[in-house]
Amino acid sequence: VTPRSPAPERAFSVRTPSQATSVVVGAGTLGRLEALLAEVAPRATRTLFVVDAGVALPGVHQRWAGEWRLEPERTIVVAAGEAAKTREVHAAVEDAILAHGLFRDDVVVAVGGGAVLDVAGYAAATVRRGVAWVAVPTSVVGQVDACVGGKTAVNHARGKNLLGAFHPPALALVDVTTLRTLPSRDRVAGVAEIYKTGRVGDPELLGRLANRAATDDDPWWVEVVAAALKVKARLVERDEHDVGERRLLNYGHTLGHALETALGPQAVRHGEGVAIGMGVAAEVARGRGWVDREFVETQDADLVRLGLPTRVPLEPPAPRLLAIVQEDKKRRAGGLLTLVLPRDRATLAVLEDVTPSELEAAIAVRRERRVHR
Ligand SMILES: NC(=O)c1ccc[n+]([C@@H]2O[C@H](COP(=O)([O-])OP(=O)(O)OC[C@H]3O[C@@H](n4cnc5c(N)ncnc54)[C@H](O)[C@@H]3O)[C@@H](O)[C@H]2O)c1
Ligand SMILES: [Zn+2]
Repeated sequence: VTPRSPAPERAFSVRTPSQATSVVVGAGTLGRLEALLAEVAPRATRTLFVVDAGVALPGVHQRWAGEWRLEPERTIVVAAGEAAKTREVHAAVEDAILAHGLFRDDVVVAVGGGAVLDVAGYAAATVRRGVAWVAVPTSVVGQVDACVGGKTAVNHARGKNLLGAFHPPALALVDVTTLRTLPSRDRVAGVAEIYKTGRVGDPELLGRLANRAATDDDPWWVEVVAAALKVKARLVERDEHDVGERRLLNYGHTLGHALETALGPQAVRHGEGVAIGMGVAAEVARGRGWVDREFVETQDADLVRLGLPTRVPLEPPAPRLLAIVQEDKKRRAGGLLTLVLPRDRATLAVLEDVTPSELEAAIAVRRERRVHR
């Protein structure tokens, strides 16, 4: 048997005026968690783990290469997925941080999907006005997006992420072998975010994505996750509070969010919505004459090759989608919408003057065709 060459490891940092996050991306890196904690939180005497119920299950985290074991005496397990992003879970994590006697130099370690990172980071932000925390993302979205940038939040009845804080983790520890236990549909959907990030700031990443050998190819994941995180890190450094360039990362998200809201996560995964939304955004740009048909078709072909959907599903009707888009955004004079659009073949731009009828026309072009038998 030829031993597989070990996956490369990537390390870099994200620096903003207020904080620095060390980022480590590799295969089996969870095995080095204790040593890395000693580096980023040298004065810590106590650690509390906040673990996603979906990965705390026996048979899930035991399958990761890093040989990380859950220690019940210093762990709080929280609901999996969006159910974790409530004030109640936030309060329960705050209570646990205090009950375990953590001070500002101690460290909260969040292990799980983006939702669990968001609530654990937010609890770390509010206890003692900020306890250090470490993000150990175990989903593709968590690894390429939620673990860097410092946004933490829970949801409110009035909307998503309405209660939160900027509180960057001291360390984002990415172990791509955690993705092995993710359902394949979720792994594929997450790749849409990597593709989007390539479009935003790393054309070479688009090529690397196309050269995927297999879905459990660790070195491939290390390369593409690290490259995507670097693009995000660069944008966060230049625009920590998301008022300028960082908004380019919302490519595909306006319509994607509307589809997620209308149809729910079972019907449309976040990444699937983003894939469909990138097609609609490209079509709006084509309507303006900024890109040609070939640009749109190339993007479609890339996404289809990655196993992603590109067509807007037959339901819901456009007026419902537009209503959600308008509800989502701060209303602007004249009902104009903010959308990230390809400005030409190589550049994206944030446009604040998209009309609802432009978006409606693009949705119509991008509709799934009913299949006649
Ligand atoms: N803070 C940010 O910058 C940021 C960025 C992107 C997304 N988010 C947030 O992240 C959330 C979405 O994150 P997500 O896509 O990771 O979904 P998620 O956190 O809702 O997790 C989805 C499911 O995957 C399971 N899971 C996670 N890792 C697993 C693994 N290795 N094996 C098996 N199951 C696993 C979870 O238990 C859960 O059931 C949203 O709430 C979004 O708002 C935040
Ligand atoms: Zn996203």
